[in-house]
Amino acid sequence: MAVEIKRVKYLPELRQVAELADEIWHECFIGIITVGQIDYMVDKFQSLSAMCDQIDKQGYSYLAVRDEGELCGYIAVKPEEDDRFFLSKLYLRKDKRGRGIATEMLHRVFDEALAAGKKRVYLTVNKHNEQAIAVYKKTGFTVAEDVVTDIGNGYVMDDHIMEYVL
Ligand SMILES: CC(C)(COP(=O)(O)OP(=O)(O)OC[C@H]1O[C@@H](n2cnc3c(N)ncnc32)[C@H](O)[C@@H]1OP(=O)(O)O)[C@@H](O)C(=O)NCCC(=O)NCCS
Repeated sequence: MAVEIKRVKYLPELRQVAELADEIWHECFIGIITVGQIDYMVDKFQSLSAMCDQIDKQGYSYLAVRDEGELCGYIAVKPEEDDRFFLSKLYLRKDKRGRGIATEMLHRVFDEALAAGKKRVYLTVNKHNEQAIAVYKKTGFTVAEDVVTDIGNGYVMDDHIMEYVL
């Protein structure tokens, strides 16, 4: 298996990530949140313009995951001002799951966090996203807190905050 994880630098590549995000979100969140909420969240957080704003103005980086050269996943991260590193997005297309690629992705996140001088990695995950929670727990993340966040349009994110001490 030749998995490559590289920082996204150019707009055409970010556009491909946006297309992939649209596909993955409409598959993995069915049964967890409504289609209306998926549409809303993809537009708000994973559209090309939203991701450009995150990168240009909010300190986020996107990393593209390729298997045998084919884009199949992505990561978004952001260093906080304190000792924490935010793992904002960790997404892998369905046909690539169950092969340990997420373990490689998470190790890359830990490397990025250490290189940024951080001591902890944290993330938010929907309380009903059982597979992702199992992967995070297996990797050593623990639930630090539960939080309900109003994201507008009548929608909320009902999340665990999970944390990994580096
Ligand atoms: C979350 C996600 C990236 C995980 O990818 P994956 O391919 O399923 O994970 P992997 O096969 O790499 O497994 C990672 C580790 O967790 C373990 N694991 C996987 N499923 C597990 C389970 N149900 N219980 C316990 N351990 C599990 C694996 O054995 C592996 O550990 P190892 O490398 O030590 O063997 C993937 O499921 C995904 O993209 N889901 C949809 C998007 C999503 O929900 N993202 C998270 C949003 S917060």
